[in-house]
Amino acid sequence: MFDDKLLAALNDQMTFEFYSGYIYKAMAAYCRPLDLDGFANWLEIQALEEMTHGERFYLYINDSGGRVHLGAIAEPKADYSSPLEAFETALHHEQIVTGRINKLVDTALAQSDHASRIFLDWFVTEQIEEEANVGSVVAKLHLIGDDMPALFLLDQDLAARAFNPPPPGTLGVTGG
Ligand code: FEO
Repeated sequence: MFDDKLLAALNDQMTFEFYSGYIYKAMAAYCRPLDLDGFANWLEIQALEEMTHGERFYLYINDSGGRVHLGAIAEPKADYSSPLEAFETALHHEQIVTGRINKLVDTALAQSDHASRIFLDWFVTEQIEEEANVGSVVAKLHLIGDDMPALFLLDQDLAARAFNPPPPGTLGVTGG
């Protein structure tokens, strides 16, 4: 069973992961009408991945005897001035997520909740990948600048991203 403060923080992060999915989905919806289908594909898959992140928290809270509380989700930003602005926003968002996960680890450690600390380890590692993946697209967009043919080549590249759902039974502690 969780300490109240840790339970509230875990629920809050679960909601924030679902909110992350909402943000990425809105970014994809910005790219689709621009015919940047590869960018949209990458962002739609990112949105799906964020849902699985939220699901990890959902299952962990349930499996550990806590009460899930789904918080309110704000309307995401719908328009951007360019794909670069969208991905810079995404990178900033991932940096915020990293900070939140680190604070959650601090909270778990302060409660000597080692099960939660171990659960959160996956997210600590994942955030390195999250920031690297988004940061790589930001760096390429900076290199591309106003070079349209190069932008379309990157779009083709991003179209190759595929969603690999976590294997059954790997999300939850007790086989969810
Ligand atoms: Fe689940 Fe991109 O942080």
